[in-house]
Amino acid sequence: MYMHILHRKICKGKGYVIMDVLEAINTRRSIRKFTGELISDDELKAILKAGFQAPSAHNLEPRDYVVIKDREIIERITEFHPYSKMLPEAGCGIVVCGDREKQPQMGFLVADCSASIQNMLLAAHGLGLGAVWCGIYAVENLVKSMSELLNLPEKIIPIGLVVVGKKAADKEPKDRYDENKIHYNTW
Ligand SMILES: Cc1cc2nc3c(=O)[nH]c(=O)nc-3n(C[C@H](O)[C@H](O)[C@H](O)COP(=O)(O)O)c2cc1C
Repeated sequence: MYMHILHRKICKGKGYVIMDVLEAINTRRSIRKFTGELISDDELKAILKAGFQAPSAHNLEPRDYVVIKDREIIERITEFHPYSKMLPEAGCGIVVCGDREKQPQMGFLVADCSASIQNMLLAAHGLGLGAVWCGIYAVENLVKSMSELLNLPEKIIPIGLVVVGKKAADKEPKDRYDENKIHYNTW
């Protein structure tokens, strides 16, 4: 409770939008239209920190992050990634990478990175920013092109790209809750 109040105060001082966690989860949408204005260093750090805070199998935290703001690298990504056209306008991308030496079980590695990505999407939304998850793994040519472009070591697998920026417009929340998909005790 105390930490929550403290956090609220710090964030207020930095002009952050404060959102209850369930409100953030229920209103987050993929944002693909941006104003062109870059997010601040404080915002970027808060988003990265949220990524680090995610759970991981055996608490191995087998994750690294490549922050991309360089215009040329951004353009190169849009040349091989067919669903990343929003990246130049957002101006910032974070490639979440899994370390195969720390976590050789690929299923866990993907889960660990995905949990981190989702935390970052929610953090961005909570800060009033827009973000979208662009998939990389397990599309072979995307993994290969991204690894080459970013000069990733052999053991490092790019799992997903978080595109983040100042959103141009809000998107309506979607309610996906479906009682028919919930099974109690047995199917
Ligand atoms: C693994 C994964 C890969 C995705 N890849 C892309 C992508 O390459 N480009 C994109 O614009 N959106 C991508 N998305 C976002 C989805 O299209 C989006 O989450 C979905 O349409 C639901 O919409 P919402 O996020 O607004 O709720 C991806 C989402 C996931 C989970």
